[in-house]
Amino acid sequence: MFVLQALDIHHTFSSTEVLKGVSLQLQPGETVALTGPSGSGKSTLLHLLAGLEKPSQGQVMWGDAEVSTLKGTALDRLRNQHIGLVFQQHYLLSDLTVLQNALVPGWIQARHPQEEALELLARVGLSHRLQHYPSQLSGGERQRVALVRAVMNRPEVILADEPTGNLDQHNTQEVMKLLLELARERGSGVLLVTHDQALASRADRVLKLLDGSLVN
Ligand SMILES: Nc1ncnc2c1ncn2[C@@H]1O[C@H](COP(=O)(O)OP(=O)(O)O)[C@@H](O)[C@H]1O
Ligand SMILES: [Mg+2]
Repeated sequence: MFVLQALDIHHTFSSTEVLKGVSLQLQPGETVALTGPSGSGKSTLLHLLAGLEKPSQGQVMWGDAEVSTLKGTALDRLRNQHIGLVFQQHYLLSDLTVLQNALVPGWIQARHPQEEALELLARVGLSHRLQHYPSQLSGGERQRVALVRAVMNRPEVILADEPTGNLDQHNTQEVMKLLLELARERGSGVLLVTHDQALASRADRVLKLLDGSLVN
């Protein structure tokens, strides 16, 4: 049983085919790096896998659910169970505190796992920032909050799109170490877009996207 599958996905933006038949399968708990030059379609693929957009052709499966058959709250609820997202832009809610941002995925599931959030925020070194707002944090701190939010529901897969693209070397190493550690501890798989070869080599597998197709 695969936790996430792309089945012959094609995607076209205004008559340009950006993805040209991409298929991939992720096993439970597997860590996969996705590499490829700028413009090769990595972010587009992650958006489709997250169900944020529909592919022009082909299917995305979360477990045995075909994503294009879902919509509205059913889509949101299933995404929240299956997928954790960490993007280059942190997408934290600016009117909520650090602690509240970490609790948002739980609210969607009608849970209020305050203790778990506090424990995870301590793990990523943010116990002293619980009542701060995103605008009061450094870039590295924001990505650590985004990471906690992504792992809160123990999603089957964390989709991470160059999550450290805006960070310095020290913060990049720190955020990546935490991402891989927390995912492993909590049983989540990871699909990580990265240009960092050293980081990619720490994954179970490396996929390369070239001009809209996966190559070996
Ligand atoms: N919303 C969009 N509308 C039109 N073209 C897009 C859109 N998003 C991405 N593209 C184009 O699709 C191609 C792949 O982009 P992207 O998936 O962002 O690549 P990568 O993440 O590998 O750099 C690029 O040529 C980009 O300009
Ligand atoms: Mg991209």
